[in-house]
Amino acid sequence: MASDLRSRKAGLAMSTEPTMKAIVRSEYGPPDVLALVEVAKPVPGVGELLVRVRASSVGMADVDYLLGRPKMARLGTGLRRPRNTGLGVDVAGVVESVGESATRFSPGDEVFGDMTEHGFGAYAEYVCAPQDAFALKPAGLGFDEAATMPQAAVMALQGLQGKGGVNQGDKVLINGAGGNVGPFAVQIAKAFGADVTGVDHTDKLEMLRSIGTDHVIDYTAVDYTATGERYDWILDIAPHHSAFDSRSALNPGGAYVMVPASIGQVVRAMVIAPLVSIFSDRKMGMMMWKPFAPKDVRTLTELVETGKVTPVIDRSYPLVEVADALRYQAEGNTLGKIVIKVSEGDAG
Ligand SMILES: NC(=O)c1ccc[n+]([C@@H]2O[C@H](COP(=O)([O-])OP(=O)(O)OC[C@H]3O[C@@H](n4cnc5c(N)ncnc54)[C@H](OP(=O)(O)O)[C@@H]3O)[C@@H](O)[C@H]2O)c1
Repeated sequence: MASDLRSRKAGLAMSTEPTMKAIVRSEYGPPDVLALVEVAKPVPGVGELLVRVRASSVGMADVDYLLGRPKMARLGTGLRRPRNTGLGVDVAGVVESVGESATRFSPGDEVFGDMTEHGFGAYAEYVCAPQDAFALKPAGLGFDEAATMPQAAVMALQGLQGKGGVNQGDKVLINGAGGNVGPFAVQIAKAFGADVTGVDHTDKLEMLRSIGTDHVIDYTAVDYTATGERYDWILDIAPHHSAFDSRSALNPGGAYVMVPASIGQVVRAMVIAPLVSIFSDRKMGMMMWKPFAPKDVRTLTELVETGKVTPVIDRSYPLVEVADALRYQAEGNTLGKIVIKVSEGDAG
């Protein structure tokens, strides 16, 4: 089914068949490799939905997929060139049609979803994927806001679970709190009753305070591992410290969870961190991300619908400017999420 989807997306539009606009690329590289083209509009297969995309979003992971980094990740995405020509994973939109046996949704339902395991391609007017890639959009949330959540919010929640999870009264530190994943992690930890410290660049501290962060640390001036403060849970979204230093900032019984971006960081999280904590009651490891896990999506929907979590949006770009959005993300200094506005109004 996934390969059918890929071939549908990759195929150039025939003159008689319905088409859609999509961002595509045929090689790894900087945003210049992207092109906005007309491709065949996908048709939902058995168990699939066709969704008219209203909004998508950009995260550092999209920059990684674009560049094909780390190189090891190409084992999954295509060694010489990307296996999927489409890019983009976050989707919020309206169900246009349903395939045979796709009984969970109806045309007109407002949904959000994650294309990570379904051929990417969210930077397009339509996506087609199995119904389990989607859930009903949280009530009261706009398409732009919903499009910020599928990857970053799920990742933030999963980074605060496992190993006992974050509990009421815990002291939690989020390192790299001001980017895509961080503001969700701050608000989720607050919702769990934690006392939250956010570490990020000077320019992001005001935003972090505005979303309820109890304490902020400017990484350009202060090394959080050298302050003498200790934490029950550290979620490290910007892992630049040694495993020894990270462990030293944990309380006895505390946990350190890394979100790795490079092979070096994976090795540090999977090999070195367990070694330095082998005779310690402090647990250290790496987050194992499960895209759009239904239980986590339900938890996040409830947190949003009860006002405990609100997406932080830095700015928006139209579909035609996806390359600029990715350049902006790659430069750093983003305050929360970048939205891609794909279409307005009712499906048609
Ligand atoms: N976003 C996703 O949905 C997703 C999915 C899969 C994997 N990941 C991985 O998860 C990681 C985080 O993703 P993200 O999209 O949240 O990244 P991001 O938006 O770049 O967030 C990282 C934050 O850390 C800050 N930072 C940089 N250096 C720091 C330091 N030394 N100490 C403390 N903070 C520092 C950054 O600030 P500046 O901008 O000022 O540098 C930024 O605010 C990435 O490695 C990505 O590959 C993310």
